[in-house]
Amino acid sequence: MKIIVAVALAIGAIALLWAQRKAEPAASSGPEFTKDDKLLLPANYREWVFLSSGLGMNYGPVAEANRDRPPMFDNVFVNPDAYRSFMKTGTWPEKTMFILEVRASASKGSINNGGHYQGSAIAVEAEVKDTARLGGWAFFAIGTGTSGKQIPKTAGCYTCHSQKGAVDNTFVQFYPTLLPVAKEKGTRFNYLVGTMIEIPRAALVADQIARDAEFFSFGTNDLTQTTLGMSRDDSGSFLPTYTELDIVDSNPFASIDQKGVGRLMEITRDFGRKTRPNIKLGICGEHGGEPASVKFCHRLGLDYVSCSPFRIPIARLAAAQAALES
Ligand code: HEC
Repeated sequence: MKIIVAVALAIGAIALLWAQRKAEPAASSGPEFTKDDKLLLPANYREWVFLSSGLGMNYGPVAEANRDRPPMFDNVFVNPDAYRSFMKTGTWPEKTMFILEVRASASKGSINNGGHYQGSAIAVEAEVKDTARLGGWAFFAIGTGTSGKQIPKTAGCYTCHSQKGAVDNTFVQFYPTLLPVAKEKGTRFNYLVGTMIEIPRAALVADQIARDAEFFSFGTNDLTQTTLGMSRDDSGSFLPTYTELDIVDSNPFASIDQKGVGRLMEITRDFGRKTRPNIKLGICGEHGGEPASVKFCHRLGLDYVSCSPFRIPIARLAAAQAALES
């Protein structure tokens, strides 16, 4: 009989613990996802480390939608584990997670009538570093819900953060407690480590190279030379005859040989993105200022073309035409 009572008590205790567990949201210090890959808003994020409160520091759709309202506040929080790691190293570890909480600003209610204070929450956005799962940093739109979908990699969030954030995609230049740490550790400069792709073998093993490379820049002149097995310097002596005899469609050093060199670029893109979905891709060389090549790069989905200064207007025009055509 005693045993039965003890068992009943134990079951009761477990049930009580279970009920408490369900009532209290999990205390998380890092990203957690739903089965359909949505990022969960940690219930305790307001107990995370507070980095800054910006006024009128809003960008993207939230800023657009609230353009006519007074400047909004945004509160930035980071998970405590990542914060502690940053204080030691000046860099963000894997599983870093930021919450950006956008709030309306109220005025005229303060005692001096002139101050601004925070009003209701408008939206919550998140940013997570998880190379294994997300291929690097990714942004999530949580809005006013409790979980949010990943924002596509083509959104402005990714470009502005990677180009203008002071430390590894993040705006440490605006976080007064972090900036001195980044300065002291020498991690303040945002840079990517990547490589040129100039020989066919590099294209064929791009998935392996992308484990370390954060960008690929196609050196299309050299890639053309190594793929076609011809030297640009000598080509003047035989290319005109080749063109006359229809051996080549056009001068491959002027306009990318889309069937051959272009195919290698496609393979590189696919292999590179398989390993690192947000790998930055572009070309560097004279082809970057040639309209047909610029349009081809647009169709390939490259992030940029680079060319010599005097060809920039042609490249811009071709890029605009390509964008309109697609
Ligand atoms: C034009 C540049 C720009 C764009 C576009 C932009 N942001 Fe930011 N973001 C900033 C700045 C500046 C800060 C610093 C905010 C502050 O100091 O209050 C910031 C901060 C953040 C933070 C806090 C962590 C960090 O990286 O510093 C998150 C999260 C964030 N933005 C999400 C987003 C999302 C999601 C989008 C796209 C919908 C986006 N941002 C688009 C400039 C930008």
